Amino acid sequence: MFEIAHFVSRQKGLVLNISSGVGRFPWPFYSIYSSTKAFICTFSKALQAEYKAKRIIIQVVTPYSISTPMTRYLKPSIMTKTAEDFVKESLNFVAVGDETCGCLAHEILVNLNSFLLEKARKDVWNLFMHGCTSQIYFKSLSSLCLRINTLYRF
Ligand SMILES: NC(=O)c1ccc[n+]([C@@H]2O[C@H](COP(=O)([O-])OP(=O)(O)OC[C@H]3O[C@@H](n4cnc5c(N)ncnc54)[C@H](OP(=O)(O)O)[C@@H]3O)[C@@H](O)[C@H]2O)c1
Repeated sequence: MFEIAHFVSRQKGLVLNISSGVGRFPWPFYSIYSSTKAFICTFSKALQAEYKAKRIIIQVVTPYSISTPMTRYLKPSIMTKTAEDFVKESLNFVAVGDETCGCLAHEILVNLNSFLLEKARKDVWNLFMHGCTSQIYFKSLSSLCLRINTLYRF
């Protein structure tokens, strides 16, 4: 809050809040982690709306896989960025809006996830319309999670 007051007096500033790709959707089996990350997204976007007119950029960054101690140094790949590469690429996205994955590969993945989730939502709705049981709903959600987790580890 002190920093924001400082930014307001200078009429400029940049705040990058680190959330996660799993904060963009409800993420079964990562429920606590994904909900705390969703909080960061909502909080950050609300703050950006409050401070935009004061020319302060507040952006939430929602990456997927980065090779760090937290991920036990996953092997870098197309999807798993090194911390250095991720930071370098994410700085190109600073001016693109109040929320970014921070790199192109993760941006593609988040859009794919949205598509899969929308498809699953329709499937689940159809199942309900035809009288599904909670077991079928759970199976449908679990298979979706598996599909997303497979992509995430790609
Ligand atoms: N790695 C990924 O794939 C990934 C993906 C999406 C989002 N994120 C998010 O990115 C952020 C950074 O994660 P990372 O992958 O860079 O993890 P990391 O390398 O393990 O770094 C975590 C950092 O948090 C600090 N920390 C941990 N517990 C703390 C506490 N109780 N109080 C103060 N500092 C504490 C650690 O300090 P010490 O070094 O002193 O222990 C360390 O500097 C996290 O918010 C994570 O959720 C990571």
